[in-house]
Amino acid sequence: MIKLEHVSKSYTKGVPAIDDISLHIQEGEFVFVVGDSGSGKSTLIKLLLKELEPTSGTITINKRNLSAIHKKQIPKYRRNVGVVFQDFRLLKDRNVYENVAFAQKVIGMPNRRIKSNVPRVLSMVGLAAKYKSVPSQLSGGEQQRVAIARALVNEPKILLADELTGNLDPNNSWEIMKLLEEINKRGTTVVVVTHNMEIVRAMKKRVIRMKKGVIVSDDTGGLGDEN
Ligand SMILES: Nc1ncnc2c1ncn2[C@@H]1O[C@H](COP(=O)(O)OP(=O)(O)O)[C@@H](O)[C@H]1O
Ligand SMILES: [Mg+2]
Repeated sequence: MIKLEHVSKSYTKGVPAIDDISLHIQEGEFVFVVGDSGSGKSTLIKLLLKELEPTSGTITINKRNLSAIHKKQIPKYRRNVGVVFQDFRLLKDRNVYENVAFAQKVIGMPNRRIKSNVPRVLSMVGLAAKYKSVPSQLSGGEQQRVAIARALVNEPKILLADELTGNLDPNNSWEIMKLLEEINKRGTTVVVVTHNMEIVRAMKKRVIRMKKGVIVSDDTGGLGDEN
């Protein structure tokens, strides 16, 4: 599903942010990516979104070589890849319903489909009752649920999350991670960048640890070791 072969990414000449990484994530996996700040985690996510091009190496997603996807096709490619960030990135002047519906409008989904899809994902994330609220009326955890609903409404095969619990308290962080686990059980491949080692250890998923642009350990179904 996600395959990296000898992928490197340098922003400027000098130390690469990603240094000759090879990695395979199967369809239906739930994977944590951990590592110190600056180890290349966000760069990896951006490469998978085709926000960045690798300096060398090959990235294949759903059997498609990303370098063969032309600029014009990028929006279509990204429908298969949902993404959630630490800072939620919601439209502040739009309500919950509109924030999620927007993702469907931009891909030209007919209104009648939007009207059935949006309530469906909002109930999946436990926010059906708050569809009229604007982001400022929601807690951080609720805002992140809206962002997850928006990422899911187009039914992507892959969900990427970059520090999505970074702004949340421990309780909300747990609930959000459990929600991702639920989404994974429904068939979506999930890749979660996080600093939250307590959750990583408890969830017993595959843990990829990065350091200075390389993968230093890959614990399939492991416990996530110390530090
Ligand atoms: N836009 C950029 N321009 C130059 N260097 C960058 C840029 N983004 C990230 N870097 C550098 O690449 C390395 C990896 O960064 P990043 O992928 O953001 O790490 P992480 O998400 O693990 O904290 C760091 O040394 C960082 O300073
Ligand atoms: Mg980062």
